[in-house]
Amino acid sequence: MTTLTRLGTWVGERLPIDPGQLRELTNEPVPYHLKRWWFALGGTPAYLFVIQIVTGIALAIYYRPSADAAYESVRFISEEAAFGWYLRGLHKWGATLMIAAVILHQLRVYFTGAYRKPREINWMVGMCLLICTLTLGFTGYSLVYEQLSYWGATVGANIAGSVPFVGDFMRTAMLGGDSYNEHTLPRFFILHAAVLPVTMILLLVVHISIIRLQGVTELHFDDEDPDEKNKTFSFVPDHLLTELSIGLMLMIALSFLATVFPPVLGPRADPLVTPEVIKPEWFFYVAFRWLKLFSGTTAILSMGLVVFVMFAWPFIDEQIRKRTRYPEASVWIGIVGVLAIIVLTVWEAVVAH
Ligand code: HEM
Repeated sequence: MTTLTRLGTWVGERLPIDPGQLRELTNEPVPYHLKRWWFALGGTPAYLFVIQIVTGIALAIYYRPSADAAYESVRFISEEAAFGWYLRGLHKWGATLMIAAVILHQLRVYFTGAYRKPREINWMVGMCLLICTLTLGFTGYSLVYEQLSYWGATVGANIAGSVPFVGDFMRTAMLGGDSYNEHTLPRFFILHAAVLPVTMILLLVVHISIIRLQGVTELHFDDEDPDEKNKTFSFVPDHLLTELSIGLMLMIALSFLATVFPPVLGPRADPLVTPEVIKPEWFFYVAFRWLKLFSGTTAILSMGLVVFVMFAWPFIDEQIRKRTRYPEASVWIGIVGVLAIIVLTVWEAVVAH
């Protein structure tokens, strides 16, 4: 008996897991259309999320979440700690790519109608994942304690403050007082490094479990093999290998971006000097432009309505399909929505610089 077999027997006697059952569990048949990469886009944010956790833990070793020390600790990471610049670059670019990947995945789900019955709940879980991802981006941006991140957090808290009824409470809860103070940065850090990642892990467990229970939506294309048994392929090793090669390409792209375009460090926050231009990260340009177009409460209420409609979309779409003569209205509504987001984002990008 080899050492390996003996080890296998030893483990098998203590953990009675049948290898056949394990194979069954991992060999989920996957519909053939997932061979096209844009249908397998859900794995991309998952992969990037793991990168964010690993690089985030490494950064947290040197980062110090206090107004006195945060900026200096980020400078130390960027300029002195071994490979600190690389880890910070991976984390920063990983965040950008993750947000882009979540948006692309959501667009794929939307335009293929994959949110329709029975997948309404998973769409809403996905919406919670989207909100968590964007909030992670916002809180992360605020941790550097540069001028822009300081004033970005202040503007963000003021926007929260203009929500009717609960606004004051939300602003105070965010800042730990009426304005930015020594309690603010630790709050952002705890949200960014503990509360939001743990919430996302729990949401992802629910998201993936529902996908396993329901299977992925089946879509068929003309160039498919008509033979029934070739309509699916197995998760292990085929789909896993596709996902791993996407992961490898992403790692190369991230390393390239982190090396060629490392994140810079702007001037340190100065609470007494408001910068001429306050701008958030690119993924909030759309909301920022909206806020500039309409007055405070109107802008907040209309944005709340948009988020509510997005959450409830599977049910609204069902009613449109049942009660109107336009069963595919969602496609046109989606195109108008995407164009509006692009126009507002580009508008803000052009004006902000
Ligand atoms: C961190 C963010 C997310 C991760 C890691 C993730 C992961 C996944 C994965 C791995 C799949 C399997 C199919 C595929 O690869 O496309 C999937 C499917 C799905 N996702 Fe996500 N997702 C995320 C965010 C979202 C968002 C923002 C939404 C929508 C609001 C959403 C809604 C759905 C739905 C409805 C399905 C089922 C699609 C089908 O049956 O074809 N997900 N997700």
